[in-house]
Amino acid sequence: MKKLTLCCFATILALSTVVAQPQLSPTNIDEVIKAMTLEEKAHIVVGGRHLEQNKDMAGEVGYTGRIIPGAAGVTYPIPRLGIPAIVLADGPAGLRISPTRKGDSQTYYCTGFPVGIHLASTWNEEIIYNVGAAIGQEVKEYGVDILLAPGVNIMRNPLCGRNFEYYSEDPLLAGKTAAAMINGVESHGVGTSLKHFAVNSQEINRLANDSRLSMRALREIYLRNFEIAVKESHPWTIMTSYNYINGRHASEDPGLLETILRDEWGFEGLVMTDWNGGYDVVKQIAAGNDLMMPGKMFHYEGILQAVKDGKLAESDLDICVKRVLELVVRTPRFQGYKFSNKPDMKAHAELTREVAAEGFVLLKNEGVTLPLRERKVALFGSTSYNFIAGGAGSGNVNRPYVVDLRDGLLGNGFTLNEALDKRYQKHIAAEKKRLEPIQKLRKWYEFALRPNEMQRPHTAIIEAANSDSEVAIVTIGRNSAEAFDRHVERDFLLCPDEEALLTAVSREFHKVGKKVVVVLNICSPMEIASWRDKADAILVCWMPGQEGGNSVADVLLGKVSPSGKLPTTFPISYEDVRSAKNFPRNVPENGLNQSRFNISTIGKIYDVKNIDYTNYEEDIYVGYRDYATRKIEVAYPFGYGLTYSQFEISNMKVTKEGDNYIVRCAVKNSGNFPAKQVVQLYSSELAPEVDRPAIELRGYKKTPLLKAGESTTVEIVISKEDLMTYNEKANGWKLTKGDYDLLLGFDSQALLLRERISITEEIIRPVSIAMKPESGEIFIK
Ligand code: BGC
Repeated sequence: MKKLTLCCFATILALSTVVAQPQLSPTNIDEVIKAMTLEEKAHIVVGGRHLEQNKDMAGEVGYTGRIIPGAAGVTYPIPRLGIPAIVLADGPAGLRISPTRKGDSQTYYCTGFPVGIHLASTWNEEIIYNVGAAIGQEVKEYGVDILLAPGVNIMRNPLCGRNFEYYSEDPLLAGKTAAAMINGVESHGVGTSLKHFAVNSQEINRLANDSRLSMRALREIYLRNFEIAVKESHPWTIMTSYNYINGRHASEDPGLLETILRDEWGFEGLVMTDWNGGYDVVKQIAAGNDLMMPGKMFHYEGILQAVKDGKLAESDLDICVKRVLELVVRTPRFQGYKFSNKPDMKAHAELTREVAAEGFVLLKNEGVTLPLRERKVALFGSTSYNFIAGGAGSGNVNRPYVVDLRDGLLGNGFTLNEALDKRYQKHIAAEKKRLEPIQKLRKWYEFALRPNEMQRPHTAIIEAANSDSEVAIVTIGRNSAEAFDRHVERDFLLCPDEEALLTAVSREFHKVGKKVVVVLNICSPMEIASWRDKADAILVCWMPGQEGGNSVADVLLGKVSPSGKLPTTFPISYEDVRSAKNFPRNVPENGLNQSRFNISTIGKIYDVKNIDYTNYEEDIYVGYRDYATRKIEVAYPFGYGLTYSQFEISNMKVTKEGDNYIVRCAVKNSGNFPAKQVVQLYSSELAPEVDRPAIELRGYKKTPLLKAGESTTVEIVISKEDLMTYNEKANGWKLTKGDYDLLLGFDSQALLLRERISITEEIIRPVSIAMKPESGEIFIK
C-alpha cells in the first residue's frame, strides 16, 4: 500500500512537471526560453536537417522530405514546449515544392510566374504586389510558412548566373520591386526571406569569394536595395549571402547584421544563413545570424561547446533563440491553419499570362512590324518549340505545364508553316534523345540542356520564305542557374549556328518582302547590336513563366501593347561593361569553387583574382551610372522599351512641400493604340564636390492603360534625402548645397523635361563605419 502511494505520488509529481512546461504562445516567449535546456537552445537555432536520420527525408541541399516534400528546409521542433517545426521553401518565381508524393495521387504543382528580371521590367509595383499575393496564397495553401524570396542583389555584370532571379542594376528599382513582392506575399500571413544579404553579384566560388568594395559603393548601391526593401516592407526574415565582404563573411559580420540592419534600419525579424553558408557558427550567432539552414550537426555541437567553454555568451544565443520563437509564433503552422492544398491555380495562370505580357520589352519595331497583321507564321529556332519558362536551381518552380511559343501561336489564331513545323518536331525529338543520357548526369540545380539549332536549315528556310507564310519568327534562348556564371562566347554572344540561322532567315524573307521578328527568351542581357539589322522587330520576353507562349501571342496579336522597360542596360559589347575585368570570365565549370574545397583544411586563401576575391573597382559606376557618365554608347539603355503607341510628356512642375519635392507632369497617349507608359525621374547634381554619376534614378510611375488620345497626370514624390550621396570623409550621407536638375522621361536616355532645384542648406547624416576593411585598404592585390 505504502509502495502504491509512493508510486502514485511520483506519477503525480511527474505529471505536474509535464503540466508545468510552458507551451509557446506569442506572449510567453521569455518564459519558454527560461524553460529550455542549453541543448534545446543549440538545437533550435540550427535547421531541422541536423538531426535527420533518414536520407530520403534529407535529400540534396535545398530539399527536405519532411512535412512538405520538396521544400528547402524545416526548423527544429520541441514538442514538450509546444514549438512546432516550420517549413521554408523557395523561391522568387513561384513556390518550389515537389509536385508529386509517394503513394498520393494528388499533385502539388505551383504556378510558374515570370522570373525576377522579368517582373522588374514591368516597373509596376501594383502588379508585382498581385504576383506576390498569388504566390503567398500558394505558400499558405500548400502548408509552407516562409518563402525564400525575393532575391534583390544588384546586376553588376550581365554574366552573373543569377541575374534572372534578381531585379535590376539600379538599387531603387530593385528595392521597390522587392518591397512590392514582399508586401504581396506577406499579405497572406506567411513570411518571406529577402536575400542574399549582401554584395552577392557573382556565382563563381560563391561560397568563399570576397567582394571588396568601398563604403560608398556599399551604401549607395549594394546595401541601398536592401535598405529600401527592409524599410518599405519589413520582411519577416532575411537570408545572408554565401560570400565574404571586405574580408568578413556576410553571415559572421555584426557590422552588417546588427549595426546596419537592425540598429540603423530598424529590422526586427530573423536572419538566417543561405543553405550551408558561413564557416564559424560561433561568430554567426554572436553576429546575430539567428538560424543556420538547413542545419548541420557540427553547428549544434559547435554552439553547445562554445557556450560550455565560455566562448559564446548564452545571452547571445538567447537573442537568436528568441528571434526563432518570434518567427514561429507568426506562422500559419503555429496558428494551426488548416491548409487546403488547393490554391487558385486557374486565377494565377491568368495572372501570370497578364504579368508576363506587361513585362515584355519591345526593343525594335521597324515599320510597325508589330502587332502582326499576318497570321501565317514560319516559326524558327529550337527555343520556339522548347520555351524556357524560368531559370534553374533553387529559383526553379515545378509548374504544371509550359506553353511553348509554338503552342501559344497555334492556340491563339495563328497557323504555322506545316512542313517547317514537322521538321522542327522531328529535330527536337532527336535532340531530346541525344541529350537524355547527358542530362541524367546533371544535378537538379543545373539547367536542362537545350536542343541545338537545326543543322543545314537552308532548304527549309528558302521553302518557307517562298511558301504562303507571311512572316518569320525566330526565337533565341538563354538559360542559366545558380552556382554558375554565364560565358561570353556562345552565351552573351550569339552561337555561330544561331547567327547563321538568323542571317539566312533574314536574307530569304526580306528578299520576298516578308518581315522577321526575333523573340528573345533570355535570362539576362546579351549582345544584340551586331545582328539587330537582320530583324524588323525584337521582343525580349525574358523567362515568362508557364503561360509564356500565350503571353507572347497576346502581344504579337496586339491584344496587349508591350510596356516593359529594361531594368538593366544592354551594352554594345561585353568589353564595354565596366566590371568586365573584375568578373570571372569563361571559368571552366570544374574550376567553379576553388577555395571552397580548400577552406575547411587550409583556411581562406586569397590568391586568384575574380575567383577568391573580386575587386569592385568600378565602385558606384554600375550599369547606366557608368555608361551615362562616360558617355559610352549602348545597344539599349536602362529604362528603355517601346510600346505600340507614342507618348508625349509635358507640363513638368516641381513643388516643394517640407522636405519633399512633388514632381508632376502630364502624359498623353498621342498614338493610336491603347498602352501604358513608364515615367522615370532622374537627378543630376550640377557641380558635385565628389564625382557623381551623370544621372541617378529617383522615382518612377507606370501610368494606367491610356486609350489613344487619353492623358493623365503623373505624380512622383522624392525627399531631399533621396538626393544624398555617401561621403567617405564625413562617414555618412551628405546633401551638398547647390543646383540639381530633376529630369523626366521615358528611359534613361530620353529625358525630355528638366526642372532645376536649389539646395541651400547642407545636410550630413552620419552612419556607422561598420564593414570598413580593417587594413583600410580595399583592393589588396
Ligand atoms: C540558394 C538560396 C536558396 C537555398 C535553398 C541556395 O543554394 O542560394 O537562394 O534559397 O539554396 O534552396
